Amino acid sequence: MKIITAKDKKEAGRICADMFEEVIREKEDALLGLATGSTPIGLYDCLSEDYSRGRISMAGVHTINLDEYVGLGRDHEQSFGYFMDEHLFSRVNIPAGNIMLLNGLSDPRKEIEIYESFLAQNRIDILILGIGNNGHIGFNEPEPVFRTRTHLVDLTPETIEANARFFTSADEVPKKALTMGMGGICAARKICLAAFGAGKADAISRMLRDDTVDPMLPCSVLKLCSDVTVIIDQDLKDHMR
Ligand code: GLP
Repeated sequence: MKIITAKDKKEAGRICADMFEEVIREKEDALLGLATGSTPIGLYDCLSEDYSRGRISMAGVHTINLDEYVGLGRDHEQSFGYFMDEHLFSRVNIPAGNIMLLNGLSDPRKEIEIYESFLAQNRIDILILGIGNNGHIGFNEPEPVFRTRTHLVDLTPETIEANARFFTSADEVPKKALTMGMGGICAARKICLAAFGAGKADAISRMLRDDTVDPMLPCSVLKLCSDVTVIIDQDLKDHMR
């Protein structure tokens, strides 16, 4: 695991974008694994700016997103599909047919089947991951075991609370979500885990403290993956124990 400390979120976004662009330049039909939340916004801004300046083309790129709330459609402002349209897909030239998103309004079993058959045939070339305060990745919440396949999750009260900032109240946050499992995540050829600010310091400190892999700290599974870069900001570093 390689650790990079960036000055701030902006610099971290640039570092992630450089890693993504290197992959896209080497393989124009690369499969990008994408996350939502505030963390990857800097990456998406850099990719969009570089596209508009003609520095990269994403015409051959394919994408797959990590997760989605159950019950929210792509036109709902808090759905992850909407987030992706707003922050990336509407700003670059990825063909609509190359975008894989979980549909929060469809039958979860059907969505799981679609995702798993896609992941059985395709490996993510580069994956951006954020992290929950409790160490979750995608929506793989702390549990006694890791789940390898795409699955339905009951969000923890902690995650519902953390994500309430995007809704008018915690009551409005969906209680269930669909997420890619650890199988799809760990199969990625390259992973960038980005984490910023004091709130993530505990999870990152626990992950880096030793060589254990603990399903109660989902991000610790990344110690088993082959090419992982952890990008933190100075604020997080200052709060590490
Ligand atoms: C959600 C997403 C995660 C993301 C996390 C952190 O729970 N499912 O993929 O990493 O939020 O969000 P933020 O980056 O806003 O801190």
